[in-house]
Amino acid sequence: MTVVALVPAAGQGTRLGLNRPKAFVTLQGRSLLERAVDGLFASGVVDEVVVMVPADMLSAARDLVPRARVVVGGAERTDSVRAGLAAAGDAELVLVHDAARPLTPAPMIGRVVAALRAGAAAVVPVLPVADTIKRVDADGAVEATVDRADLRAVQTPQGFTAAALRAAYDAAPGALATDDAGLVERAGGTVVTVPGDALAMKITTAFDLRVAEILAQEQR
Ligand code: CTP
Ligand code: MG
Repeated sequence: MTVVALVPAAGQGTRLGLNRPKAFVTLQGRSLLERAVDGLFASGVVDEVVVMVPADMLSAARDLVPRARVVVGGAERTDSVRAGLAAAGDAELVLVHDAARPLTPAPMIGRVVAALRAGAAAVVPVLPVADTIKRVDADGAVEATVDRADLRAVQTPQGFTAAALRAAYDAAPGALATDDAGLVERAGGTVVTVPGDALAMKITTAFDLRVAEILAQEQR
């Protein structure tokens, strides 16, 4: 079964606050985009990669990741994934993996694909939540402490049968979601979990980039 990975890389990186889209920021000399794409190919379980980037970054992206197909993304992450799905051809299994997770280890990508091959229609890698989580009201007053035992933090790559992911996106044409499995859940589908990895951290803030720089330096 052909595995195609879609890499949303069309965000602006507003919270990181540098002068270019986040996927084109470098970590120890290599862009997050190159690292994410190379990691997918290096996993040995991905056949093709489709990258979605801002329109004005098309040719820059094609130079950085010549093995990937590069298409224009959209205004929201869901729009970018839609654009990637349209370019995914006749893939049977689809991964969606943020360019903003450049250090994702190969075995974790393997776990997601293995769960799909074992019959799951939707798979997310997860980590236990370390902090205590509280629900607060609009004024910041605590309403409740949420039981942490059954909470998980969700990472990417998330894996799907192409049929399940297409059906979820078709069922909610204008929907916004922070992850793709969320749309499968809304469409009534079952999502299973596999163990994630702290190295698959998402780079969102300047602090995250500093941490990732140290991790990338250690890997050299
Ligand atoms: N993404 C995308 N298209 C968008 C928005 C986001 O492809 N319209 C991608 C980002 O490039 C990133 C991933 O989705 O790889 C996760 O999004 P996020 O971490 O929120 O990145 P940005 O949207 O770039 O950052 P910010 O929200 O701080 O602007
Ligand atoms: Mg964003």
